[in-house]
Amino acid sequence: MNAPTRPGSQPLTNSLEAFWMPFTANRQFKQTPRMLVGAKDMHYTTSDGRQILDGTAGLWCCNAGHARPKIVEAVQRQIAELDYAPAFQMGHPAAFELASRLVALAPDGIDHVFYTNSGSESVETALKMALAYHRARGEGSRFRLIGRERGYHGVNFGGISVGGIVSNRKMFGTLLTGVDHIRHTHDLARNAFSIGQPDHGAELADDLERVILLHDPSTVAAVIVEPVAGSTGVLIPPKGYLERLRAICDKYGVLLIFDEVITGFGRLGQPFASDYFGVTPDLITTAKGITNGVIPMGAVFASGKIHDAFMTGPEHMIEFFHGYTYSGHPVACAAALGTLDTYAEEGLLTRAGELAPYWSAAIASLNGLPHVIDTRSIGLIGAIELDPIAGQPTKRAFSTFLTAFEQGILIRTTGDIIALSPPLIISKAQIDELIGKLAEILKKAA
Ligand SMILES: Cc1ncc(COP(=O)(O)O)c(C=O)c1O
Repeated sequence: MNAPTRPGSQPLTNSLEAFWMPFTANRQFKQTPRMLVGAKDMHYTTSDGRQILDGTAGLWCCNAGHARPKIVEAVQRQIAELDYAPAFQMGHPAAFELASRLVALAPDGIDHVFYTNSGSESVETALKMALAYHRARGEGSRFRLIGRERGYHGVNFGGISVGGIVSNRKMFGTLLTGVDHIRHTHDLARNAFSIGQPDHGAELADDLERVILLHDPSTVAAVIVEPVAGSTGVLIPPKGYLERLRAICDKYGVLLIFDEVITGFGRLGQPFASDYFGVTPDLITTAKGITNGVIPMGAVFASGKIHDAFMTGPEHMIEFFHGYTYSGHPVACAAALGTLDTYAEEGLLTRAGELAPYWSAAIASLNGLPHVIDTRSIGLIGAIELDPIAGQPTKRAFSTFLTAFEQGILIRTTGDIIALSPPLIISKAQIDELIGKLAEILKKAA
């Protein structure tokens, strides 16, 4: 099938058939494609020349908005100067400079960085680090990994094994063995229409203790959770919950991994969610906002305790048999350095905190609209949960997404939940536009 053109629009002559699109309703898309051809600051441009207000920072990644000059220049400069350097047994200065700047941003005690190319790879890396850490210190019996229901940790086998989204797991066989899950924290009966952290549910953290004791602590390596779960529809941790997870991990010698692929780099008004919640894990997985989404990159942040456990044995030997051809790619490092500069110059790592009261009031203004069964918000994240159409789950939210795109706003949906996470440069007037347009669409929704 050929992409249609509209009068006066940019011609799109390629067939749409060959590209098998990720996490997309391919047949629906190819009947009525939604093509983006440009982006600047808070807006995308479509192939038919319309401006779309970005309510999702791309896919939770363009935290500084689009086509920011410092980042564009840094990438252009780097690609002309050093396009690639072997990642193994060789180095280049930008990778070291970036790592030093990243650990300076990280919570105290988190002082090493291992580069990857995506959130999924960061998760695999962190899980492998956790297993190898225990083995390196003579506790190789700790081979179990624990995740949480409704968790999203990317799409590779480790990530979907510890993840808890049924549709991401059910088609793919037996997954990793030795994995268990704790309960999720979503509780509309007690917490609907909360702003910030909900009041009820800290005790759900005790499920971790139950699972650890079931398997015996001597077999458990690590637990991984998103501090705020994003892809499953924005699940905000109840007050006291993360603190309790940390205490249980400490009690049983289990590593705590925070997957901060979406919460890292300012989403909650602090560099990391770990800062925001005042709970420091042993490992932090990141990606997305590290380069403002411009070049694929991820990083695992590790505590000194973990890093140092590997630094034994003969010095000519590789300490951790893991890495990617593109770990610390020079162009990605340049993009990340340009991104950190932009974040610093514009105060973007704390801006979500300044906007949060305005943002959460805007999200809460949707309460009471047709089919809205919950709204919730934290930092510059918001969610609107809709009552599913009987027998047609996801349809109501997806229709809202399609109408929103037609009307000039980009929102994201997962199940029947609308998730919003605009670039951190959004203005109050743009918040009004985003939420105002969404309100009009929801008022008319079937
Ligand atoms: C918490 C979390 N972990 C991991 C990932 C996977 O990241 P990627 O798509 O870059 O592999 C995502 C992506 O949304 C995420 O939200």
